Amino acid sequence: MNRVTIRVPATTANLGPGFDAFGCALSLYTDVTFEETEAGLEITGCDEAFTGPDNLAYVAYCATLATMSEELRGVKIHIDAQIPVCRGLGSSAALLVAGAMGANVLRGNKLSTQGLLNITNAMEGHPDNLAPAFLGGLTASMVDNGLPVCVSFPLHPDWEFLALVPDFDLPTTKARAVLPEQVSRADAIYNIAHGALVLKALEKGDEKLLRNAMQDRLHQNYRKKLIGDYEKIEALVRTTGAAFCLSGAGPTLLCITQDPALEEKLAKKLDAITQANWQMLPLHVEFQGAHVL
Ligand code: HSE
Repeated sequence: MNRVTIRVPATTANLGPGFDAFGCALSLYTDVTFEETEAGLEITGCDEAFTGPDNLAYVAYCATLATMSEELRGVKIHIDAQIPVCRGLGSSAALLVAGAMGANVLRGNKLSTQGLLNITNAMEGHPDNLAPAFLGGLTASMVDNGLPVCVSFPLHPDWEFLALVPDFDLPTTKARAVLPEQVSRADAIYNIAHGALVLKALEKGDEKLLRNAMQDRLHQNYRKKLIGDYEKIEALVRTTGAAFCLSGAGPTLLCITQDPALEEKLAKKLDAITQANWQMLPLHVEFQGAHVL
């Protein structure tokens, strides 16, 4: 085999209090095709700025070949991305996962999913998007002795996710730069307790518990100033009964609900209260992780 296409789902990280730990795969996809050639690198399907050797799919592809002690030959990479770039829906993780899995499949699947998680986590620095991108569904992860340990959690089938995606991007580096190095014991306790209850609420399908538990003191308060419409949108969503959080490092905002009319309810008011243009993306959980198409 010298050609393979890998499909990777979008992912939302953190889910409120689960900073750098929780993640969930969503029904939006990036497909990346790898075709081995004699020599050289050709990347198509993306902005010119991403067609060089620092493209994340290529970086992960090369790192995976190196880990397997496999020779790097030429490769053509074609990216077909539904996941919006730099919006907090796991676009970077999707490219890393595709690159690692693409190289592994093309050279005989020598590495396990854990092996691919180890490689990509070393690049990304935290496994919260990578875990659901590989495994699908809801995951929680820790990093132990430098290696990610990722576990799937049960998720009630009735949840719907409504992503509110603005017309501006927010690089993760910028959204991490505003976070304090130290947090108080009270804030740490707050997040541990809320995080545990978020997982239980998601499992049981308990919207009221989710709404209460999905609150955070480690990152969202610091990041909301980077997103001008954040507080107005949060206040609006809270009037509907849906749970609300920042998706990953933002700027996408996420509503989690079982109310099929939520999109309609927000549509009537969103434009009137916001300055940026916000696109509403109704999504559901994707239980299948990255796979060969
Ligand atoms: N947990 C990460 C963050 C996700 O919030 O910065 C974005 O990569």
